[in-house]
Amino acid sequence: MHVAIIMDGNGRWAVDRGLPRHEGHRAGTENIRRILEEFVKYGVKYLTLFAFSTENWERPDAEVDFLMKLLQESIISETQRLHENGVKICHFGRTEGLSRELQDAISRSVDLTKDNQVVTLNIAYNYGGRAEIVDMIKAIIDSGVESSSVTEDVVRKYLYSGDIPDPDLVIRTAGEMRISNFLIWQSAYSEYYSSPVLWPNFDENAVREAMGAYSSRIRRYGRVPIS
Ligand code: IPE
Ligand code: IPE
Ligand code: MG
Repeated sequence: MHVAIIMDGNGRWAVDRGLPRHEGHRAGTENIRRILEEFVKYGVKYLTLFAFSTENWERPDAEVDFLMKLLQESIISETQRLHENGVKICHFGRTEGLSRELQDAISRSVDLTKDNQVVTLNIAYNYGGRAEIVDMIKAIIDSGVESSSVTEDVVRKYLYSGDIPDPDLVIRTAGEMRISNFLIWQSAYSEYYSSPVLWPNFDENAVREAMGAYSSRIRRYGRVPIS
């Protein structure tokens, strides 16, 4: 099973406590560890986390800088432990625009963990669904594929997600009901679930509720229900 999460509400979590927004980002990042462990207990093999969108560059410079440093620090400090636990780390998004140090930290961690098989953790960072589609089209053209050979399977291969199966469940925290440019190709038939819980507070109970809601969904893929 593949679960994808739009981790939203870090800013509100901080403001509710009278703290600066970046404290919410720190608390949100710390939450990733427990959430990953929790989903693994449910047998989830792929977890995709939306951490920074191509639109998030429009935030104030200080917040963008903080988020960039936070990802770099977290990758460097967490990779070894994740590796020991069999986690394969992948990056969905554009590397251009990220600092050289951050690009290096990402590629070291992707490289080190590439053969791990317990669970795949995809970090969507500098990720936008439309940017991904533009990058896919460029890559297809550059590879010289004839237009008559372009199929859905060819498109899939050139997306950042490659062979990774589509998400079964897309969760958005903090009560918002929009997709904000996340996995727009891959989530065509995903089940959507909005949780009112702010991301730093999204805990094992919230995971149980989301998985419970998913288990009662009937996935039809355009067909009639099985009677
Ligand atoms: C999600 O939390 C993290 C990022 C988008 C980087 P927000 O920062 O969007 O939190 P809110 O929506 O302002 O509460
Ligand atoms: C989506 O959240 C992006 C991430 C969680 C990284 P935003 O908070 O940026 O989305 P909008 O602006 O509310 O749509
Ligand atoms: Mg938000």
